[in-house]
Amino acid sequence: MSFSVVVIGTQWGDEGKGKVVDWLTQQAQGVVRFQGGHNAGHTLVIEGERSVLHLLPSGVLHEGVVSFLGNGMVVSLPDLLSEIDALLARGIPVDRRIRISEACQVLLPYHIALDQAREKRRGHAAIGTTGRGIGPAYEDKVARRGLRVVDLFTPQRLEAQLFELAEYHNFVLSRYYEQPEIDPKVVLADLVSLSERIQPWVCDVGAALAQMHADGQRLVFEGAQGAALDIDHGTYPFVTSSNTTAAQAASGTGLGPGYLEHILGVTKAYATRVGSGPFPTELLEGAGPVLAERGQERGATTGRPRRCGWLDVVALRHSVQVNSLTSLCLTKLDVLDVFETIKICTAYRHEGQVLLRAPIQVDHLNACVPIYEELPGWKSSTAGCCDWRALPEAAQRYIERIAELVGVPITLISTAPDREAFIVRSHPFQDAPSLTETVLDVCE
Ligand code: IMP
Repeated sequence: MSFSVVVIGTQWGDEGKGKVVDWLTQQAQGVVRFQGGHNAGHTLVIEGERSVLHLLPSGVLHEGVVSFLGNGMVVSLPDLLSEIDALLARGIPVDRRIRISEACQVLLPYHIALDQAREKRRGHAAIGTTGRGIGPAYEDKVARRGLRVVDLFTPQRLEAQLFELAEYHNFVLSRYYEQPEIDPKVVLADLVSLSERIQPWVCDVGAALAQMHADGQRLVFEGAQGAALDIDHGTYPFVTSSNTTAAQAASGTGLGPGYLEHILGVTKAYATRVGSGPFPTELLEGAGPVLAERGQERGATTGRPRRCGWLDVVALRHSVQVNSLTSLCLTKLDVLDVFETIKICTAYRHEGQVLLRAPIQVDHLNACVPIYEELPGWKSSTAGCCDWRALPEAAQRYIERIAELVGVPITLISTAPDREAFIVRSHPFQDAPSLTETVLDVCE
């Protein structure tokens, strides 16, 4: 018997998924990323020590857990290896724990240069990407000209593929964007030397995961970014270039949707967004800067300040639908400890109408004015609280009200950055057929 949990960001990313995945993986045997690349920045705080992971799954710090990079990812080899080397230098033998899909797309220097050139050209209309080349790498995948990890191990063909790709991208870089060309010989030499290092980790990830599942092992699927950044369901075009929602956990790993047993959505107790694009509940003054400061809201990848606002239940309900969430984890509750009253956006007002669903056009969404419900704050510390009964009544009411508005139970609450700072009302693995006494003990 086996069980799997998919962890999904329900907002614009940065919900605290890294901590949740790391915590869940204590009771799993495998953890897998299924989309995105090093645009993600997953921060873990373990016994006071902070680690930021970009490509490696957030469960990689656990011994005895296999960490997979699924076929839905775009992988920059230099960035992957420098992340691995940094952990090796800290004495964490991650090299023994990693597996990479042979079908992952390889993110190349061309993609990074194009992403940055494009953003520069867009000026005020820029998406605010992380500048890591994610969009152009996915474009090559969909255009069927991308390099996959498996291609790295057939040198003659690799050279031909890369040179053709380089001709195309250098043309665009130099003629359209007036940027320097990138020498494919240098790129090739780097790829060849780096691919030697990754070769032992390359495998058929789908087959490996299916085998683990059949053997009764527990799997955690780690989403990156969040549902509102999904290429289909997010605030297009201000989105990332992959599907960030739960169904991608299947197609991005080589399994079918039947393998996805529990979908856990992660939401902050308020809302943040990094980069451009609509954000109806954004607060430029008043509570916004307070949330930013108390929540230390800076992007883990780019260091950019995050925009902050009250929780948007219209967006969260959409997220519940597109992900078919089983349960929710609410993070950073303690950031709200200081407020006299706390607002929840329950609907939008647009051209005299009350909307319960967000309009699809960005300019319409930009014109929406949030309709708020105001709840009393608790004005006392919840930081590090691990017991539901010890929470102030007003905090309990706030959490229950969100659950009621979105129709999904909030079963986990994170109250501080550290791994163990969770209130566990029910554990996602609790439904697992093979749950043992030991597991229950760990949940307590
Ligand atoms: P890209 O993924 O670098 O192309 O950026 C597209 C949009 O997604 C931008 O608004 C980024 O700020 C946002 N984004 C990408 N990755 C993350 C993340 O891990 N957290 C939050 N926002 C992200």
